[in-house]
Amino acid sequence: MFQASLTVDRDFAIAPLDRRVFGVFVEHMGRCVYTGIYEPGHPSADEQGFRQDVIELTRELGATIVRYPGGNFMSGYNWEDGVGPKDQRPTRLDLAWFSTETNQVGTNEFVDWCRKVGISPMYGVNLGTRGPDEARHYIEYCNHPGGTTLSQQRQAHGYAQPHDVKLWCLGNEMDGPWQICRKTAEEYGRIALETGKLMKMVDPTIELAACGSSAHDMPTYGHWEETVLEHCFEVADYISLHTYFSKYNNHAAMARASTEAADYRSTGEYLAQVETTGQFIEEIVAVADAVAARKHSAKRIHLSFDEWNVWYRARHGEHLRPTGWPVAPRLLEEVYTMEDALLVGGVLTTLINHADRVKIACMAQLVNVIGPIMTEPGGAAWRQTIFHPFAQAAKWGRGTVLKPVLRSPGYAHATLGELPYLVASVVDDAETGTTALFVLNRHLSEPMDLQVALRGLGADRLLVESLTLHHANLEAINTASAPANVAPQSLDGVQLDGEALRATLPPASWNVIVTRSAGRAASSAPPITA
Ligand code: AHR
Repeated sequence: MFQASLTVDRDFAIAPLDRRVFGVFVEHMGRCVYTGIYEPGHPSADEQGFRQDVIELTRELGATIVRYPGGNFMSGYNWEDGVGPKDQRPTRLDLAWFSTETNQVGTNEFVDWCRKVGISPMYGVNLGTRGPDEARHYIEYCNHPGGTTLSQQRQAHGYAQPHDVKLWCLGNEMDGPWQICRKTAEEYGRIALETGKLMKMVDPTIELAACGSSAHDMPTYGHWEETVLEHCFEVADYISLHTYFSKYNNHAAMARASTEAADYRSTGEYLAQVETTGQFIEEIVAVADAVAARKHSAKRIHLSFDEWNVWYRARHGEHLRPTGWPVAPRLLEEVYTMEDALLVGGVLTTLINHADRVKIACMAQLVNVIGPIMTEPGGAAWRQTIFHPFAQAAKWGRGTVLKPVLRSPGYAHATLGELPYLVASVVDDAETGTTALFVLNRHLSEPMDLQVALRGLGADRLLVESLTLHHANLEAINTASAPANVAPQSLDGVQLDGEALRATLPPASWNVIVTRSAGRAASSAPPITA
């Protein structure tokens, strides 16, 4: 057992937590849409063909927004293909994923799905094969109340009221060589500006996310964001970040799906991606603010971390490029371990701790394709290991993020120096007096004796929830036949004494501890409120 401490003070607020950081992503690829969210004929399918078992699990996951329809798919998509009578919709080749797209789900059905789940859509426009003209038509179709050909077309399709989609992506990963109609930063910056300008003319209430680099290690990283924002600063509200976490040391090992131990990161190195994610965020904030400074602007571009997850196993060969142009092939069907759940939990704490600038984040994706939910066609739906930290953080992450002051022994990392075993974030909801702690113990063999000081948060605390996600085997997974092999368990023995809390956290565990001050009045809110 080792000792660690965490001090929080209600006056040391970082920012209100934007609940849109608990977003997910549904792309037309693999089995995310077809046999994921949509499967007419499935025993749980509703009248529209949506799987209600998946709807239930998405609600339980607590996702607040959902990015759609891609991804790389977006850069070749004609939104017109996916509206109107289903039997008249074209079948197309999807060049992003070498698949056949039947267009049986499109803009209107997806809005219906969102309403059923109780989640907000974040749509994207195609800035690969298309541009400003289609984008202005798309937003007019979706958001204009009526009286124009496009809004009347939506009405004729059965949607009298505008969809009122508030959040839009200006394309996807336009820096990537794999992208359909990749662009240089100059080309993309210009088209993003002009497209965004037209979209906001049609509907000034929308918010726009411009494409940042598709990964931190892209050769144009940094310069890309700077150039793009120089062009489209006036219309962009967010710049996007994308990250897929890997156990491999390098891309070459991942591409050949190496099984050599030397090609893998140790668990400690793997979990250090919690810190590199924080650095990534801080670098993009610095670039965005440098552009603002050059423009003498007080405007702040916020961050939309709209693709993130673990993805390294299903990242070669047929996982990426199926043969024969199949419909809904099995692509990127990563099976997640306990170790992955630890990293996902740790990354969530980093996103939360950067609440001052990260306003949107989307776990990529939702179902089957690198998803927290898995399904079998005609069969079960179940929670992958990574489902659990997300669901707990989304359930309890409400209010103001407080700065976590940590004391913890640590371990040596080759490039990052000493890293604490303890990783934490704290969110306090002044309205209810509820304070949630999300805590990762990165020590692989020793429990943590954690002492927490909750200053100014009310001494009359009650324990509301205490759960630990832990498994003796870091390789443990959930399957259709063993869906709860990795699942949160009760964290026993949490002690509360006035403002002091003490808990013993298992080795290699992600934990949530929630307390409530019954007497703390809503009127005594901390200085920064949502
Ligand atoms: O999520 C899978 C793919 O990863 C997305 O389509 C793309 O945006 C990213 O490269």
